[in-house]
Amino acid sequence: MVDITENPSSRQAEEVGLLEGLATTRAIRRYLDEPIPESALRDILFAATRGPSGSNRQPFRFVVLADGEKATAAKAMIGESARALWNAKRQNDGYDRGSGSDNASPKARMARTMQSYVDNFDRVPVLVLPCLVRYRAPAPMEGASVYPAVQNLLLGARALGYGGVITGFHGAVDAPLKELLGIPEEVFIAATVTLGKPAGGHGPVRRRPMSELVYGEEWGVAPDWAVDPDGTRYTSAGPPRSAKPLGEQSRGNEDE
Ligand SMILES: Cc1cc2nc3c(=O)[nH]c(=O)nc-3n(C[C@H](O)[C@H](O)[C@H](O)COP(=O)(O)O)c2cc1C
Repeated sequence: MVDITENPSSRQAEEVGLLEGLATTRAIRRYLDEPIPESALRDILFAATRGPSGSNRQPFRFVVLADGEKATAAKAMIGESARALWNAKRQNDGYDRGSGSDNASPKARMARTMQSYVDNFDRVPVLVLPCLVRYRAPAPMEGASVYPAVQNLLLGARALGYGGVITGFHGAVDAPLKELLGIPEEVFIAATVTLGKPAGGHGPVRRRPMSELVYGEEWGVAPDWAVDPDGTRYTSAGPPRSAKPLGEQSRGNEDE
C-alpha cells in the first residue's frame, strides 16, 4: 500500500510529484485488458475518500464494480446507454463532417477514441459510481462535496499508473441501475467513472491560456502573473460562444 500516514518522515517518495500528476491526469478511455488488483483499488479509493466535503460530513459513497455478476450487468446497462448517447452526439455535433472527414484531424481522432470507448464499455476493468447521500434539498453547491473526491480518485489512479474518466453515461439508466445495486432512491449517482491501465500514455492536459481563465480585481482581466509555464500547449476547446442568456440555453450532455 502507498504509505500515506500521519508521519511525513515515513511517506514513500512518489514517482510522480503532485503538481506533475495533476497536470498530466488526462481523460483515459482506452484500457489494457487487465484487472486492477484489490491493493491498488484500495489505495485509489483511499485517496478518493480523503476528498473534502462541507463540514467534513463525507456524504460521498463509492460503488466499485469490477467483475462480479452485478458489475457485469451494470457495465452492460451503462454501456448501452453510452453507445446511444455517443451515437446521438456523433450525429448532432457533426463529428464526421468538416474537419472530421479528415482522418488525421483531432476531431476524427476524438471520434475514434469515443467510438472504441463505448464499443468496449462492457469490458472496462473497473466502474466506479461516486454517489452523494443527500442530507438536505438539492443545491448547486452540493456537488462540491463529491466531485473533489472524484478528482482525488483520478489523481490516485494516476499516481499508481492507472487512468480513468468521469462520464455522465449512467443518466438514462439511473433508475434500473439503482434497483440493480440497491442504491436508495434519494441518493444521487454523481458520475460514472471508468478505470483501468491506460493503453496509451499519459501526457499534459491542454486547456485555454491561464490569462483567459484567471482574473484579478476586474472580471475578464488577468493579473500579470497569470502566465502559463514555458512550453504549455493549448486546446481550442472552450466555453460555447453563445450569445443567449443562460436560462435560454438548452441543457445537453455534460461532456460539452
Ligand atoms: C462533468 C463532466 C462530464 C463528463 N462527461 C463525459 C462523458 O459523458 N463521456 C466522456 O467520454 N467523457 C466525459 N468527460 C470527460 C471530459 O470530456 C474530459 O475531462 C475533457 O475533455 C478534458 O479532457 P482531458 O482532461 O483529457 O484534457 C466529462 C468530464 C466532466 C468533468
